[in-house]
Amino acid sequence: MRRKLAAGNWKMNGTRAALAEVDTLGAPKGPSEVLICPPATLIAAAAGRVDGIAVGGQDCHAAEKGAHTGDVSASMLADAGATHVILGHSERRADHGETDAAVRAKTEAAWAAGLVAIVCVGETLAQREAGETLDVIGAQLDGSVPDGATAATTVIAYEPVWAIGTGKVPTNDQIAEVHDAMRERLKNRFGAESDGMRLLYGGSVKGSNAAEIFAVSNVDGALVGGASLKAADFGPIVEALDAAS
Ligand code: 13P
Repeated sequence: MRRKLAAGNWKMNGTRAALAEVDTLGAPKGPSEVLICPPATLIAAAAGRVDGIAVGGQDCHAAEKGAHTGDVSASMLADAGATHVILGHSERRADHGETDAAVRAKTEAAWAAGLVAIVCVGETLAQREAGETLDVIGAQLDGSVPDGATAATTVIAYEPVWAIGTGKVPTNDQIAEVHDAMRERLKNRFGAESDGMRLLYGGSVKGSNAAEIFAVSNVDGALVGGASLKAADFGPIVEALDAAS
């Protein structure tokens, strides 16, 4: 019912030479949707480059245009060929002080520009150790996802902050606990529409652990950082997701 999604977040990595990795990845052969989110400088060159590989941004401003030096609007991303945008990534929440309200406003801007918003949530290690994980995730979902979210416009990514770039991955039970709770919370708010919303897991996903993660309840794909930079690493993750479809 939910089409699986393999999304690569290149973060602040890659110059034009890196686009060769998209070529090497090649047109998807399986049922999964494949998305690459390169730095903003590469979006126009990446978009439409390989049949079936969608391209997204990593952030957008909440306003459509104006005096915001250095920022990029959702409609600019769309104009460059992006179809998706990652919003509220923990690195942006930490580095740029993005609040749930800011993420919510950006998500509305993304929708207005016709982009699919991938809204990120995730607890810190201190919050997990304090037993606050489900409360933190619930509050982030409530605050960051606007009213009117639909399966077509909104994807949620659960990325525990302590699992990002660390090689540490939650246990299957820990992932299932959060993903099941997110599904329930979205159901309470959005009703039947929530059944179609994809829930991605992110944080140290690799070819070697992907199949196990994709077997977890309510995991509809992955948001991959480091292992999305090279086709040799990302390809096996896409294959594992295809096999889980
Ligand atoms: P890593 O896959 O490098 O841990 O990064 C995850 C992430 O932050 C994707 O958005």
